[in-house]
Amino acid sequence: MSTRPAGSATVSARIHARSDKVSEGTMRAVCYDRQGAAGEVLRVREVPTPEPATGEVRVRIRYSGVNPGDIKKRSGWLGSTMPYPRVIPHSDGAGVIDAAGEGVDPGRIGQRVWVYGAQSYRPFGTAAEWTVVPSALAVRLPDQVSDEVGACLGIPGITAHRAVLGDGPVDGATVLVHGVLGGVGNLAAQLAHRAGATVIGTTRRRADLQARPPRGVDHLVALDVDDPVDAILGLAPDGVNRIVEVAFSDNVDLDAAVLRNDGIIAAYATRDGRPALPFWPMLFGNATIRLLGSDDFPAQAKQQAARDLTSAASDGSLTIDISTPMPLEQAADAHERVTAGTRARVLLHTRYVSLEASTSSDCRRRGG
Ligand SMILES: NC(=O)c1ccc[n+]([C@@H]2O[C@H](COP(=O)([O-])OP(=O)(O)OC[C@H]3O[C@@H](n4cnc5c(N)ncnc54)[C@H](OP(=O)(O)O)[C@@H]3O)[C@@H](O)[C@H]2O)c1
Repeated sequence: MSTRPAGSATVSARIHARSDKVSEGTMRAVCYDRQGAAGEVLRVREVPTPEPATGEVRVRIRYSGVNPGDIKKRSGWLGSTMPYPRVIPHSDGAGVIDAAGEGVDPGRIGQRVWVYGAQSYRPFGTAAEWTVVPSALAVRLPDQVSDEVGACLGIPGITAHRAVLGDGPVDGATVLVHGVLGGVGNLAAQLAHRAGATVIGTTRRRADLQARPPRGVDHLVALDVDDPVDAILGLAPDGVNRIVEVAFSDNVDLDAAVLRNDGIIAAYATRDGRPALPFWPMLFGNATIRLLGSDDFPAQAKQQAARDLTSAASDGSLTIDISTPMPLEQAADAHERVTAGTRARVLLHTRYVSLEASTSSDCRRRGG
């Protein structure tokens, strides 16, 4: 599905009027110069339009994806400090390549791409009209995949991919995905299903069982039922082969109880940073704990994930709930939404997106 702007005359006039206010060689970007609350530190500023260095491409951004990790960086989570004097947040996005640096095929200019890692070990991310990234981090978007879906694939998709497939194929396996209604969990379920696994998803509240199970989930279990271990073992009597874990400290006892011998817990988050775990039962079960830090996945793993995610979106295997994209000026609201734990993905849009795309009601977007 293409979500290129349908655009009305009134809208484009308004958009161009706004663009005239930006001086030549500058762009509008969401910036922060110190960490703090979203409303206090996020500002839209006019900053120099970046030029691609050797090996880089410049992407004219249409959508910028907001993730919990962006909120953590902005707010100084775990004592992190400002890595650069000024940060343009967000690593994920989608847009069109409009300049190529030395050593990059100029044929890439004009290509629609999704972007990952733009603000990982780099100061200036995608919450701007342009960003520059190493060419490999701008992945061609097939025609049938929307820009909005592209902007949702980076951090959650690459993390989900490694959690599910980082230890080899899952065809015929049973994969337990905690927090399956969340950004990472939802993509993990869909990738596991596409790879041939039976997927058991969990949600924290039984009220969620009334909704249709999310795509890719064969069985949905609420963790607040009387005996969730029993419920999971009722579905997988021999236990599960892999667990995709978003709350290691909360769930590790349950995980140990349902993990099959030689199984793997792939954890990408925890509530308690020093979790206690049932060591002996896990040892007797030959459990492996794989911890995931997506900023530092091997480049090859990220590239494989990018290829697989693009294919999955392209062949229609991914459905992503996306709320109405918000303009750059509403970046603070967008961050607050993510902090509040919205279930639909949160995007910012730039002035290159038509009013129609930016004001459509909340919608479910399919990759292909
Ligand atoms: N390590 C990494 O590289 C990496 C990469 C991506 C994200 N993360 C981190 O992972 C976390 C989730 O990211 P996200 O983008 O998926 O966020 P999200 O869209 O807000 O989803 C969070 C999900 O976690 C679930 N959850 C929270 N506590 C739980 C618990 N005790 N048991 C079971 N499920 C629980 C929620 O379940 P309900 O829906 O039932 O409320 C929700 O579905 C964030 O802290 C993020 O920073 C880490």
